[in-house]
Amino acid sequence: MDSRSAALDRAHHHAKVWLDSLDSRPVPPSVDTDEMARRLGELPDGPTPAAEVMDLLAAACEPGLVAIPSGRFFGMVVGGSLPASIGADWLTSAWDQNVGLRSVTPAGAAVEEVSGRWLVDLLGLPTGSAVGFVTGATMANFTCLAAARDTVLRRAGYDVRAGLAGGPPVRVLVGAERHPSVDLPLRFLGLGDPVVVPVDERGCIRADALAVALEASEGPTIVALQAGNIHSGDFDPFAECISAAHARDAWVHVDGAFGLWAAVSPRWADALRGIAEADSWATDAHKTLNVPYDCGLAIVRDVDALASSMAMHGDYLIQAGGDPQERTPELSRRGRGFATWAALRSLGREGVVALVERLASHARAFADGARAIPGCEVLNDVVFTQVCLTFGDDDRTGRVVDALLAEGTTWMSGSRWHDRAIVRISVSNWSTTEDDVGRSLEALQRAAAQA
Ligand SMILES: Cc1ncc(COP(=O)(O)O)c(C=O)c1O
Repeated sequence: MDSRSAALDRAHHHAKVWLDSLDSRPVPPSVDTDEMARRLGELPDGPTPAAEVMDLLAAACEPGLVAIPSGRFFGMVVGGSLPASIGADWLTSAWDQNVGLRSVTPAGAAVEEVSGRWLVDLLGLPTGSAVGFVTGATMANFTCLAAARDTVLRRAGYDVRAGLAGGPPVRVLVGAERHPSVDLPLRFLGLGDPVVVPVDERGCIRADALAVALEASEGPTIVALQAGNIHSGDFDPFAECISAAHARDAWVHVDGAFGLWAAVSPRWADALRGIAEADSWATDAHKTLNVPYDCGLAIVRDVDALASSMAMHGDYLIQAGGDPQERTPELSRRGRGFATWAALRSLGREGVVALVERLASHARAFADGARAIPGCEVLNDVVFTQVCLTFGDDDRTGRVVDALLAEGTTWMSGSRWHDRAIVRISVSNWSTTEDDVGRSLEALQRAAAQA
């Protein structure tokens, strides 16, 4: 057997062993990063056969792996991987397409065009919007906000290529509970800190406060709204905010890393009313859609605005117009469309809706079950996939998180929300079952009894 086939066979074996272990293994790792670094060893002088390297890698990494793809990981907002999308991701590596250019990698470019079209349709966004396949929602925010910055400057008669220093200031308005992945791209883009607008008790931007902030000064303006607060899971009031912002000629961007997926189901039609009127939307395929890491999606209504911010030109590049590189900050990159197409193709339209609704139903079951645990309070109105719990004072809540992670049945993160320590549950994995929810609630009850 040649060394490539042998390596792939060993990788396949180790992948199956890992995936088969998910139901029974503890969710947290058993060693820390420093110990893992020691286990991975020193660089040898000579070569090692590829198949043996697979065995060494799997053996070394095993104790440091977190069962993120299991149905009982509820930390951060981290989806798993649908079977078809894992398979497609393997093929993506084997095919090794550099998908920047239509004429060079037709399959890679077309799969992004087709799945981009499917996504825009599923999410109820304007037909013809451009979809850039980036690493995650942070880069999707960056990509969309770059198009926003350049467009609002252009409308003010200024070309960003002359440098920001000589142009009018660009004001960016955000809610007090936006995700930090909005602030970082603003710094990358030279826009500095945003103007912070107060939020309500759900963590959603107050439309009245945004209207006042919009009136406070003139000039190029961007408003960044949010679909899916990281703690409450709730949605900004899009219709009111977007019409107020558009009346001032502002560009409206929506960070919907996980919450934009609510748009696939009529269940959230009221909560998301008006969202399709925005100018750009950032979301992740690696969260709610359960595509393997990494895949974010930068969606921009005005195809030319995005291309004018992202496209690069070079004599050696065989450019066709409409190239994938016109929609992302990179020229060379992985073909992320293959795994996304496979996820969507395997679920079908109804499957995507069922997946999103199922995640939200599990979140509600968590809230109902948690309320029955003595001393536990559910802090948010569970409108989507996020649940925030407290167990009395901050110290006790912290002890519950520690006991839970030490026991290992499930992973829920500690956080702070509205000045209180919380246990945060994010239901994002396609494979979570009612049994996983039940087992995790039992573990939470044991941790609470201990803390
Ligand atoms: C609302 C929101 N925006 C942005 C991000 C950042 O996403 P990523 O980690 O894919 O860059 C997250 C991550 O959880 C999020 O919840």
